Amino acid sequence: MTIQAVVSGLGTYAPSKVLTNHDLERIVDTNDEWILTRTGIRERHIAAPEETTTDMALRASKLALAEAELKADQLDFIIVATNTPDTLFPSTAARLQARLSSSPIPGFDLQAGCTGLIYALAMGSTLIQNGTYRRILLVGADKLSSITDYQDRTTAVLFGDAAGAMVLEAKTDTDKGVLASYLKADGRGGDLLSLPAGGSRLPASEETVRDRQHFLKMNGNETFRFAVKAMPEAVEEGLRAAGLTVDAMDLLVPHQANLRIIDAAVRRFNLDPDRVVVNIDRYGNTSVATIPLALDDARREGRLKDGNIVVLVAFGAGLTWGSNVIRWGH
Ligand code: UT7
Repeated sequence: MTIQAVVSGLGTYAPSKVLTNHDLERIVDTNDEWILTRTGIRERHIAAPEETTTDMALRASKLALAEAELKADQLDFIIVATNTPDTLFPSTAARLQARLSSSPIPGFDLQAGCTGLIYALAMGSTLIQNGTYRRILLVGADKLSSITDYQDRTTAVLFGDAAGAMVLEAKTDTDKGVLASYLKADGRGGDLLSLPAGGSRLPASEETVRDRQHFLKMNGNETFRFAVKAMPEAVEEGLRAAGLTVDAMDLLVPHQANLRIIDAAVRRFNLDPDRVVVNIDRYGNTSVATIPLALDDARREGRLKDGNIVVLVAFGAGLTWGSNVIRWGH
């Protein structure tokens, strides 16, 4: 009897404050036309100063649990993908567990750049398929505004804050669920996208603060070049692992980092726009939350149907890249 890992609940949250391109024109030397044509972004959501990654994770998780018709104390495990944990420790997963329920279930944070949710789904589905756990909460939550340098126009325009959560459950009487995943990391490209200070390599000091080393640094051009190769590879290899080809893919849900990166994948596979989800215009790059936000939007628009072959694909700091192939529904 094969155990499938199905997505029984999906929830998302974006803070109410919206930062438009025009707002950014007043903060850095940029303009709406540049941002829109180079990235596809019109606006992004920004958390309140006191609103934490865990706060956002909690809101998304409650929605996902409600849809799955589960109480938090029925969960077996929590995985939180994040690059902006509330603190280096304790983990965001432990904080979330305490906010959701008094049941002491296991959980941990997973850090794989913007590919974090893809990694979490691969880990979670494996733990279900091998019979270890039956109900797992997966969360992708990032408060990127806390590490964005609003004096650096090359990165300030790109990022937003948000969270997404999925409940994964064991089912035996279905052909739906996670069919395959493909994961890669190559640390040789680590310097292309990094947060230099605040870890054990460069602990916080007056110098690190003065030199703005607690903000995200990115070589945009090189990251772009990497992404244009990594996304199609991950789509093809994920599908291959599932025994499928691109023709079988009903919906591609790509990481929303730059519309031109998504367009390159669309051209490469000659995809009809109906088969690709794009919502970068409204959220910018929310790192680990882009994929649940895009899935939620696709579902609201009636584009995500039971039985669909859905491919989630992302790339990010590490460098990391990967995909999950899901037969949607539960
Ligand atoms: O999920 C995390 C992964 N991150 C990414 O996927 C990001 C990948 N990279 C990118 O999306 C793009 O490389 C960027 C959007 C970051 C930059 O776009 P680009 O088309 O590669 O621009 P560029 O860096 O080559 O810069 C072109 C020009 C430069 O001016 P000069 O030297 O040609 O005079 C920049 O200084 O655009 C200038 N520029 C800006 N101008 C107005 C850079 N940022 C801005 C800005 N507003 N915000």
